[in-house]
Amino acid sequence: MRGRFITFEGGEGAGKSSNVQLTAAFLRERGVEVVVTREPGGTPLAEDIRNLLLAPRDEVMQADTELLLMFAARAQHVGALIRPALARGAWVLSDRFVDASYAYQGGGRGLSMSRIAELEKLVLAELRPDLTLLFDVPVAIGLARAGKRGDLDRIEREDLSFFQRIRETYLNRAAAEPERFQVLDAAAPLAEVQTQLLDSLNRCWEQWHD
Ligand SMILES: Nc1ncnc2c1ncn2[C@@H]1O[C@H](COP(=O)(O)OP(=O)(O)OP(=O)(O)O)[C@@H](O)[C@H]1O
Ligand SMILES: [Mg+2]
Repeated sequence: MRGRFITFEGGEGAGKSSNVQLTAAFLRERGVEVVVTREPGGTPLAEDIRNLLLAPRDEVMQADTELLLMFAARAQHVGALIRPALARGAWVLSDRFVDASYAYQGGGRGLSMSRIAELEKLVLAELRPDLTLLFDVPVAIGLARAGKRGDLDRIEREDLSFFQRIRETYLNRAAAEPERFQVLDAAAPLAEVQTQLLDSLNRCWEQWHD
């Protein structure tokens, strides 16, 4: 079986990072090579761009600057890590990917979705996730979970309505592409979310073996 590309999406504190780890364990038990990565970031250069994006600063970052830096990091990530891994048959699990640009820079910042789609075409060409797991949680619950970590990064300092638009954009994208997305109720206790996740993974695993 060829390697698959699975992305983990959702707002702050939804449980993406916790569930990437469970997914990696599920796949490794089945004997496949798994590469766990994240966006923005995933390579040393892309992680440097991540730091530029997330560091709080006095100068206001223009929304276009944020969008282009996200895609610059993504170009590096895709070219240097994701494509080579998929080419050798590895499975790639990415904590956020291109849907996050639609949600954060499109929904959150209000940039035009069609301009984001142009960048997606430029940077990704035909590359799309085989499966996107959307961890959906009410904004207040997610922020309360994420807030326990301490210092907020530049994007985490936005107001509630920003995160509300992000959640709505993610849900709209999932509704538009139901074959690629699985929406998980991430407000449930972690054990329950993980049961939903294992159900999805088992179904996909069976389907991809046909
Ligand atoms: N379903 C859940 N119920 C309660 N707590 C949870 C649940 N899922 C995750 N958590 C906890 O919430 C916090 C955030 O989870 P996690 O880091 O996995 O989220 P994330 O989506 O990666 O967040 P971020 O967007 O900030 O990276 C962690 O402390 C985690 O243990
Ligand atoms: Mg995380």
